[in-house]
Parts: sequence; C-alpha cells; structure tokens
Amino acid sequence: MTRVVVVGSGGREHALADVLGRTADEVIVTPGNPGIPNSTDTPATELDADLFVIGPEVPLVDGLADRLRAQGKLVFGPGADGAQLEGSKAWMKDLFVAAGVPTAEHGSFTEVDPALAFLSTMTAPFVIKTDGLAAGKGVLVTDDRSEAELAVREYLSGSAFGAAGSTVVIEEGLTGPEVSVFAVCDGTKAVLLAPAQDHKRAFDGDAGPNTGGMGAYTPLPWADPGLLEMVMEQAIEPTLAELSRRGIDYRGVLYAGLMLTPNGPKMLEYNVRFGDPETQVVLPRIESDLVQLLMEAASGNIVSTPTFSDDALVIVVCASEGYPTSTRTGDVIDGLTEAQAVEGASIYFAGVDRNEDGALRTAGGRAVNVIGRGATVDDAVAAAYAAVEKLSWPGMHHRNDIAKQARAR
Ligand code: AMP
Ligand code: GLY
Repeated sequence: MTRVVVVGSGGREHALADVLGRTADEVIVTPGNPGIPNSTDTPATELDADLFVIGPEVPLVDGLADRLRAQGKLVFGPGADGAQLEGSKAWMKDLFVAAGVPTAEHGSFTEVDPALAFLSTMTAPFVIKTDGLAAGKGVLVTDDRSEAELAVREYLSGSAFGAAGSTVVIEEGLTGPEVSVFAVCDGTKAVLLAPAQDHKRAFDGDAGPNTGGMGAYTPLPWADPGLLEMVMEQAIEPTLAELSRRGIDYRGVLYAGLMLTPNGPKMLEYNVRFGDPETQVVLPRIESDLVQLLMEAASGNIVSTPTFSDDALVIVVCASEGYPTSTRTGDVIDGLTEAQAVEGASIYFAGVDRNEDGALRTAGGRAVNVIGRGATVDDAVAAAYAAVEKLSWPGMHHRNDIAKQARAR
C-alpha cells in the first residue's frame, strides 16, 4: 500500500497526482482544487504518506521540505538552502559562475547608480530581473533603453515588486529557442526527463506580456539529439557538485531553463520544482514508475532510469479574462464533458473552484489546461484544439499557435 501526498493546487499538481496514481495506491493533493480528485484542506504536515512531493516554489523556499523531513517524512523537493536557486536570482547567477555553467553575462546590484552605470555598457535587448520571487513577472526584456532604466529605478525603490526587487540582476540579452529540461536529483546524481518547450508570452506569435506559460509540447523534433547529454554535462553535474560543495543535499527537481544561442546553449535560470505547464505534457509520457523514481531521489539514491513513450503531447492553457495583467475570476466553465470526450484529449485543472450550485468556475489566471496526445505533434495539436473548441466561458482566451515551431519543421 503506497500513499503519496502532492502539495500544490495547479495543473502541475493535477498532472503529478495523475501520473503518480498509475502506480501509487492512493494520492492525496493538498490543498488541490475542486477539479483534482482527492484534494484536501489538511496541511501536508498533518498528513501521513510514504512520499511527499512538493509542487510549487513558494513552500520550498519557505522550508516546507525541511519541516516535513524534521518529522521523519520522505520528501521529494529541496530544503530552503537549495531552494535559494529560485528564491534569489543573484545567488543562482553566483552559483553558475562558481560551477562554470554557461550563462548570460550579468551584474547584481542593490544601488541605482552602479546599476545604471552597468546598464550603460550593455546593448539591446536589455534584460532586467528582480532577485526574488515574482510569480514569473519579475523579468523585463526590452529594446528600449529608457524603459530598462526606469525598471531599474522602480525595482530598486521597491515600488514595483517590494522586497523581491531590492536586488536587481541586469543581464546580457540572449537569442534563440528556449528549452525546459527537468533533472530529477538525489543529492549527488541526476536523471533527465524528456525535454519540452514552453510558450511564455500571452498572445500568438510570442506577442504580449510574459505569463506563467500558455502552452507547451514534447518531444522537440527539431532539437539536437545531443541536447540532454550537453545539459547533463555542462549544467546539471557541475551544479550538483557545487551545491554539495556548499553542503546542500539537493533532492528534488532542477528545472533547467536554457536558451540555444548561436554560441551554444546558455542557462537562463534554474527553478527548484517541475515547470508548469511543461510537466503536464512531460510526465504523461513516462512509461516507467514515477513513484519509484521520486522515492529513490528522495532517499538519496537513484538507481532506476525513466523511460518515455514516443507519443507527442501538447498542452493549450485556457486562461481567464484579462490574464496576466488584470485577471477576472468567477466565470462558470462550459463544455467540460464535451471537451473530455474528444479522442486523444484530456484536462488538468488549475485555477478553478465551485459556485454555490456546484458548477466549476474560474478562480485564477490559468484556469483549465487541455492536453492532446497523438503519434505526431500534428495529431496532438489537432486533438488539443478540438477539445479547446468545446470549452467556453466569458473572456476565455488561449494561444492558437502552440507547437507551431515543431510543426513547421
Ligand atoms: P526567467 O524567469 O529568468 O526564465 O525569465 C523569463 C523569460 O525572460 C525567459 O523565459 C526568457 O524568455 C526571457 N529571458 C530571461 N533572461 C533572458 C536573457 N538573458 N536574454 C533574453 N531573454 C531572456
Ligand atoms: N513554465 C514556466 C515555469 O514553470 O516557470
């Protein structure tokens, strides 16, 4: 009897629960949401299980993994020490340099004058980041120097992101396709999952503001077959070695966000958790036992190798009116039964709750995720959009060009 607790409430956690549930006897999600089976309000620290999997970065940065381990629980997710990789971009960039991981040239600043002096030496595109967590919104990429200067002033004054912006990171602007690679780590070793590509901008053609992610697909038919090996050798292995050198026993996901630049792959960032929405297409492709793999990682000794189906998976995020700038919630979601009946399509729920009549309604920006699966990316795209068409609520919006880059090849 294997029981797993997943912490979190979004589409990533729905996917984790679904795939872990293939081999676990019971999966409980806290706090979950009304679209995720077995959601509970009981906090993780009051639950018992053979394995705890922590989904989002905020509880990791807050030390939930440490508190659970102090209770003697088996936890997949780094402690607060390792979670600094995502909690502080300046700390992360410093670690890249110490570990020799290829990344954009950068400087970290707490004062306006030296920050602007550094910026004046850079050429467009200008990249300005908050040091701390800003729910995916703390990054500005712009060709407009005065906009970049204004962002530096606003971040450092605390008016834009409060304490999260009290240190800014100014980076060299890189170009090239972006790739997400998840490394499952046991403290000293790692195994990589199949790569995926996210779509961060709100609108078609990569226009509009950055979001948490509007869609993704896997596999990447255009990617160099040596990509994963390169990520392992140039990023994950030196990072784990440097973390160990700093006394950090990192058991969880290292999510490598990289850009394939004309000068080779460069790391944009690490996240300390599975990426969302990419996880929702990567995990369903796993054919081996995910519970076993995460338990091994959490115990400090990975011995199994994950295997993947050749199927293509595509996710289209259906977002609420106004997301990401001014999200309206509370709209009743229509067409769920019809969408779920589309062959090759399935749904993972993110920002949803129920109204007094028990109907599911929107409760967040990224509300409903539609996943299409097929033998090719084209088949998966067709299944996903056939199901998206069945869904509706006032102001629902989604991108129409997910995986276009893969289909063009
Ligand atoms: P991050 O939160 O660091 O992943 O940044 C969010 C997004 O901003 C990335 O997915 C990229 O699209 C973009 N970005 C971040 N850093 C750079 C950079 N140095 N050059 C160009 N674009 C970047
Ligand atoms: N897919 C972007 C993120 O999880 O941060």
